Amino acid sequence: MRVVIERDAESVSRKAARLIADQVRRKPDCVLGLATGSTPLGTYRELIRLHREEALDFSHATTFNLDEYVGLGPTHPQSYRYFMQSNLFDHINVDASRTYVPDGRALDFEAACRLYEQRIKDAGGIDLQFLGIGADGHIAFNEPGSSLGSRTRLKTLTQETIRDNARFFGGEELVPRLAVTVGVGTILDARRCLLLAVGVGKAAAIRETIEGPVTAQITASALQLHREVIVVVDELAAKDLRRRAYYDEVEQSQQLLERGRLRELGIGTR
Ligand code: GLP
Repeated sequence: MRVVIERDAESVSRKAARLIADQVRRKPDCVLGLATGSTPLGTYRELIRLHREEALDFSHATTFNLDEYVGLGPTHPQSYRYFMQSNLFDHINVDASRTYVPDGRALDFEAACRLYEQRIKDAGGIDLQFLGIGADGHIAFNEPGSSLGSRTRLKTLTQETIRDNARFFGGEELVPRLAVTVGVGTILDARRCLLLAVGVGKAAAIRETIEGPVTAQITASALQLHREVIVVVDELAAKDLRRRAYYDEVEQSQQLLERGRLRELGIGTR
C-alpha cells in the first residue's frame, strides 16, 4: 500500500483528482469504479474543473458505482444515482449509457447483481477503483463480517452506518435498511484502488486498514492483499498511524523517482 498523507481535505481531493485524471488521459476508454459519500465530493468538483478548464475528456470512459440503497429510484435525492448525476455526471462529458449504478429497485436482485458483475467483466474490468471508507472500516457497503471474497449482492446495513448516514436523510428511521453493493472480491479485482479518508472520525478505521490484520471485521483491510493501492488521507485521518515517518520517507523517494532524480536515491552512483 502506498500511503500519501496530505495537509487537509482540499489537498486530498486535488491529489485524488490528479490520479483519476492521469488514468483518463493515459487510457481514454478506461473503466472507473466510482464512490459516493461526502469524501469524494471535493474530488468530483476538481474533476469537473479539469473537464471545463483543461478539457479533461470522459467521452470514452465507462463508470461503475459501488452501491445503491434498496428502494430508492434514480430521482430520489438520496439515491446514489441522483448523487452521481448531480455531483459529477451532469457536469462532464461522460456518455450516459456507460455510467452504471446498481439498481436499488430491481425485482430480482440475484439476477440484477449477476448482471452487474457481468457488465464489469464485459467492459474489461475496472482500471481504477475509487473508494471512501466507513467509520467502521467498510468499503462500499461491505459491512463488518462481509466475506472478503464477496461479489455484488444485497447487504443489511449496520446501525452504525444507518446512524452515520442519517444526516443525509433527516432521521435514522428514513435510512433504508438494505443496500445493493459490489463485493470485497469485486473491488479486489480492480487493477488499481484509490482509497480516500479525511477527518478524525476516520482515524481508527485508517489505522486498522493499513496497520491492522486483514479481517472481515474491517473490510477495507482486504486491500492489503491487493497489488496496487494508493491511500490518500489528511493529517487528521492519519493521526493514529504508527509508521507515519516511514510512509513520509517512502513518499519522498517516490517523488524523486517520478522526477528522475535517481542519483539522490543512490541509483547509478557506483
Ligand atoms: C457509505 C458508502 C461508502 C462510503 C461511506 C463513507 O457507507 N456506501 O462508499 O465510503 O459511506 O461516507 P463519507 O465519505 O460520507 O464518510
